[in-house]
This record gives sequence, structure tokens and C-alpha cells, in this order.
Amino acid sequence: MKRIILSSILLTWQLICPTQIHSQIVGAGKTVDPYHYTITKSKTFDHASVACAHPLASAIGAEIMKRGGNAFDAAVATQLTLAVVYSNAGNIGGGGFLVARKSDGKNIAIDYRETAPANASRDMYLDKNGNAQVMLSQYGHQASGVPGTIAGLFETAKFAKLPFKTLIQPAIDLAEFGYVITERESIALNSVRESLIKNSTAPSSFVKEQKWKAGDTLIQKDLAATLKRIRDNGQKGFYEGKTAELIVDEMKKGYGIITLSDLKNYHAKVRTALEFNYKGYKIIGMPPPSSGGIIVWQLMKMMEARNLAAKGFQTIKSTQLMIEAERRSYADRAEFMGDPDFWKVPLKTLTSDVYIQKRIADYDSTKATPSTGIKAGVIKESEETTHISIIDKDGNMISITTTLNNSYGSRTVVAGAGFIMNDEMDDFSVKPGVANMYGAVGGEANAIAPGKRMLSSMTPTVVLDKNNKPFIVAGTPGGTTIPTSVFQTLVNIIDFDMNATDAVNKPKFHHQWLPDEVMIEKDFNADTKKQLLAMGYKISERGAIGRTEVIKVLPDGKREVAADKRGDDSVAGF
Ligand code: GLY
Repeated sequence: MKRIILSSILLTWQLICPTQIHSQIVGAGKTVDPYHYTITKSKTFDHASVACAHPLASAIGAEIMKRGGNAFDAAVATQLTLAVVYSNAGNIGGGGFLVARKSDGKNIAIDYRETAPANASRDMYLDKNGNAQVMLSQYGHQASGVPGTIAGLFETAKFAKLPFKTLIQPAIDLAEFGYVITERESIALNSVRESLIKNSTAPSSFVKEQKWKAGDTLIQKDLAATLKRIRDNGQKGFYEGKTAELIVDEMKKGYGIITLSDLKNYHAKVRTALEFNYKGYKIIGMPPPSSGGIIVWQLMKMMEARNLAAKGFQTIKSTQLMIEAERRSYADRAEFMGDPDFWKVPLKTLTSDVYIQKRIADYDSTKATPSTGIKAGVIKESEETTHISIIDKDGNMISITTTLNNSYGSRTVVAGAGFIMNDEMDDFSVKPGVANMYGAVGGEANAIAPGKRMLSSMTPTVVLDKNNKPFIVAGTPGGTTIPTSVFQTLVNIIDFDMNATDAVNKPKFHHQWLPDEVMIEKDFNADTKKQLLAMGYKISERGAIGRTEVIKVLPDGKREVAADKRGDDSVAGF
């Protein structure tokens, strides 16, 4: 009798809360408790680890690996979780890049960057006088490219071990039953309240009557229903059927141009990862349409013969050399880089030693080289993106950067589907060759064309040591500052022999050719700043540069993991 009562209680509970039972990972008092969680900034694990922008997403990625999944399983589950708990950049309405080194020695690069819709055109953001209307490329329905994330996740899942249903369930549970938001998230949500209302056509979970505060629970029923359609119908659950219809209905309400056939025709692309040697280490990065892999290649090679370590960490000598290298590499970015399916990127030349050394040959160690003397353009990009670094027990290393572009993307929530669309169209050169409202200049290589992918700075990177063994997984958000942050993190470890935490948290600096100024974080070395000013550099102090997530494999095989101090970023593992 007692057994019957117990089983009927269990059955009733399952009917009320079936997904929670199914996942067994997420829930009050479960392994991942969305109502009680803490942030862990750095830790060393024996086997496997994840570092990303939110503690719940790191914890779920690690738990998936504990339950038999590999790094690819964790990559899928972590990204889907971020789409729920980190709505300003985690996404299913955006896109991203994945770079991996499998334990069998194969490199993988998956490109799930958004594409311009078929009805997009080169001058679509120009008014009748030819002036760029960047409000339209940055906010609202017309700012969105065709989302790539879900296609990217299914491409990633081809290397996974667990069923997709298992990997998506934690995200469904978090959306359906909610999670407690952090103070940082409450501030972010409050700051975009008016913009979300203005650019959406229906009420959404992100906007409530009172201000958000730390400890509030965010429940996203519409998003849970969308994730369930993806769970039950696979990729078609997003790109066809009800979700696709909801996206297109939303687009129609705000002159957006994404159609059902744009969605149906979207494909993630498997590309050939870039790979080069730096002082015996093998660095593996993302090819175009990312500019990041090429920039990091050029920057590292400009350093290689110049003994950075002997110049000292962030002394005037090492800093000035790095600034001048950055200036030159970013000048190449806009002139030569774009979607390789639409524009012939001179990859071989840009990464050849002869070319790279010629670029830095005119560097003067006594003064700033004015950017006016260096040809090319630059493109304004937003800095809200997010990164995930993962390693599993077998040594599969994965680096993923994913984005909606602006914080909370275009601010358009798809009515009935509960997710935010990207504003990635702004990463194209809205008006090639002409400075936009930010004083930034774009190149012909990155002009808008139907089906084309917009140039990106996302720089997911993995590094092998001198014995070809896993060594570093790194990446960061930060718009155009991404490649320099990754570059500086790598030299911090390789040349300045830092641990993962220092490599991530030491102050960063950035030069991107135009504007001709060095951006520094507030805690940057005061003495070096003074000497840079004396040499003729213009300096602008700014807030955080990047939010880098690093895994460093120690000589004994342990995984030293660091999440950036600049956010709620957190590590997990076992
Ligand atoms: N939206 C930022 C980037 O792709 O670089």
C-alpha cells in the first residue's frame, strides 16, 4: 500500500514537472541548483573543465562530461545553457565560431556566423543622401542576420557522445522553471529595459514592471517551448515550422527582411583551421570570416624573433613593440579580410613570414608610427560577445566564441519564441570606404551581399605544447579588442611564464590602427603609460578589455582554469 502511494506521488510529480525529472541535473537541491550557486574564478582540476561567462553554464558543461560526455557534448550543453542564463550574449538568435583540437590530432573549425538575408543589399542602410543609418544596422528588426547558432550546435553534436535531447534538457529546465539572476545581470537587464520595449512588439520575460534586482528569478516559458521544439524536431525545430514562422512574423512587424527560405537555407560551414608555429608551440585558430586567427598569427610572428620576455612584462619596450604590431595588423584587417566565399582573402600572403616581417620592419622603437602612414581601414564592432573554453579527460580541447553583437543584440525579442535576435548586420561595412558615425572605416572586402557572412573579430584559439600535447584553450569577447586580448593572453603564458589567472587578469591594452590611440585599462602600468605619452602616443583609458577564459594544461596533466575577474565568469570541472 505504502509503495503504491509513493509511486503515485512520484507519477504526479512527473506529470507536473516531467522535464525536471528527465534531466536530473538541474533543480533545487540537485547537482546544479539554479537558486543557489557560487562563482569560482580559478581552480585546478584533474580531468576536465569548462570556463565561461556564467557559473550555471560552466557547471552544466562539467556535469555533462562527468556523466560520460566529451568536450563536444559539453560545448553543446554549455552554449544552450548560456542562451538561457546569459541572454545578453549567449544565444540561439546569433552565431559563433568553434575551434577544436581533437585528441586524435585532428583540428576542427566550425563557422556558424550569421548570413545576410537574400533580400539584403550593399546600400540597404544608406538614406537617399547616401548617409549611413547605423541605428538600423544596430537596433530592431532590420539589424539581424540569419541566425547560425542552432546549425552550429548540430554540426558540433556530430562529434558528441550523448543524445542531443540530453544536452538540451538542462537549458529547457532553466528556461521553464527559472534561475536566480546575479547583481550584474540585474543591472544589465535594467539598463536595456527601454530599448527592449522599443524594439520588441510584444511583452517578454526580460521586462517586468519593477526593476530587476539580484536574487530575482527569471523564467522564460516561450524560450523553453522553442528549445523543446529543437529537442523534438532537431535543427528543423528552429529553421522550419513554428519557430521559423514566429521569426518571420516578428520580422514582418518591423520591416525585417529574413524570410522562411533564408532560415531553411542556412548552413553552418566546416572550415580549415589556421595552424602556425610559435617558438615550437602550435597555435590553432579560426580562419575567415574571422579576422582573429590571421591577426593573432601576424602579431605572434612579429614578436617571435624580438625576445619579448627580455624586454619585460608591460615595460615601455615590450608594450610599444606590441602596440606597433597591433597597429599594422589591424590596418590589414579591413582592407583584406571578409567572407572567403565572397572575397578572395590573400591568406597565404597575410600569413607568410616574409610579408609579416616586412610589415614590422619600419617600426621605430623611439616613437609612435602615425597611423596616417599606414594604409587600410577598420571596422567598428560591438564588444558584447561571450566565450567558452573546454577540455575533457581525453584531451579534446574546444574554444568557442559566440555573439548577438551588441549586448542583448538588436533588442528585438521574437514574440512567442522568447529569444533575442542578433544585430550582426552592423559587423558589415555599412558604407565601404567611408567613416561611419564612430569615425571607423570599413573595406570593400566586407561590403553587404545576400548570403554573405559579416567579418568578425572572434578569435577562439587552442595551443599545443612543444610535444604536440594540449597546452592552452583561450578566447574572449570584446569586439575588435578580441584578437589583441587573445594575443596578450598567449604571450603572458608563453613568453612571460604566467599562470592562467594572471594571464587573464593582468591589465590589457589595445591599438587598432584607427582611431590612432592606445586604449588601456585603468590599472595599466602608470610608468609605461607616462613613457608612451612622451613618445607621442595618444592614450584613452577605458573600462574592461575582454572577459577571457583560459585553460592551461600543467606539466603533470592537471587543468589550471581561470575565468576573467571582469564579469560573473566562473569555472567548473572535476
Ligand atoms: N560581433 C562581434 C564580432 O563578431 O567580432
